Amino acid sequence: MHSAFSSPQEFGSSNRTEPYISKNLPCLLVVTRCVCFNQSFEDLKSIMQSKNLTTFEELKCEVVFGEKCKMCVPYVQKMIETGKTMFPYIPNLQEVKSLLKT
Ligand code: FES
Repeated sequence: MHSAFSSPQEFGSSNRTEPYISKNLPCLLVVTRCVCFNQSFEDLKSIMQSKNLTTFEELKCEVVFGEKCKMCVPYVQKMIETGKTMFPYIPNLQEVKSLLKT
């Protein structure tokens, strides 16, 4: 099963793909894919490596991702910059305010 969220202990690893909430860091979620187009960062990275791509624009010419909500775009840019394929999810201010009200 694929999910956008995985274990925070496995940053950069492709071994774990099921949903996970850390026992040590409650509610820390990890982003691993473009959810709208079901493209994992691991797969995007593999495509970049196999086709010798180096830029976000080159990757966009090869694969469809990041064209709906665009929430994955900064994560893909970070993947290209760092080589990592898992990132901590950082909620926006509106989401934090909503959580604090409940
Ligand atoms: S998560 Fe990538 S476009 Fe929505």
